[in-house]
Amino acid sequence: MLNVTDLGQGTPIVWIHGFPLASSIYEHQLAIKRTRHVMPDLPGFGQSRSAVGNLTMDDYARIVIDLLDHRGIDRAVVAGLSMGGYICFALARLAPERLSGLILIDTRETADTEEAKKGRYASIEKVKKEGIGSVMESMLPKMLTPAAPPEMKERVREIMTSSSADGVTAALRAMAERPDSSSLLPGIAVPTLVIVGEEDSITPPADAERMAAAIPKARLVKVAGAAHLANYEQAEEVNKAVAGFMTTV
Ligand code: MLT
Repeated sequence: MLNVTDLGQGTPIVWIHGFPLASSIYEHQLAIKRTRHVMPDLPGFGQSRSAVGNLTMDDYARIVIDLLDHRGIDRAVVAGLSMGGYICFALARLAPERLSGLILIDTRETADTEEAKKGRYASIEKVKKEGIGSVMESMLPKMLTPAAPPEMKERVREIMTSSSADGVTAALRAMAERPDSSSLLPGIAVPTLVIVGEEDSITPPADAERMAAAIPKARLVKVAGAAHLANYEQAEEVNKAVAGFMTTV
């Protein structure tokens, strides 16, 4: 069973978290009004301790489709942060009829380079031997800007620590093997909000600019004072952009 936060009333947004994170990374987005916020912890992350084996990005997308079915949601705006964005592309491929809008946060449409892929498999071996500590510590400095307050860094670390080794290795493998989604972008017919932290070094602004240019109904918002977790570090500004976007969906 997945752990799912389901709060608020209005047009549904399904918020899919990034790696190695959990639904709590969207805790500040609960302040967005007139919206039903559906926030799952993906298998092996946060409080979802479901067994995870080998999963593909399409499998994660199917988990989201099942969640929509279960909760009687026909169509939703789907928001994805980083790996959550990769799942959004799988959803757009598998079940475009379930989407009423897309919010792509600090993500990219391209597949891993060969080098990045190798790095993922090396990380899998490391996690199997030593646990998630080293992967977490190598990612943490890239998540927030150096100016982020220490309490924020601690909270992000805490959210990351809720990840299980099984969840982390499954996600690393799925990310390494994900297909390139570039050819999908011109066919995305729903309104799309592309958000990126100006200081994001994992999925830099150039990625967001390229996606926004290729998706017909896209709007790009670059967020100053944010790195890879724009929605967390600059929640107020992102919430404003999302609330405005929701009036167009
Ligand atoms: C994420 O935040 O989900 C990851 O950084 C994505 C990635 O490693 O490609």
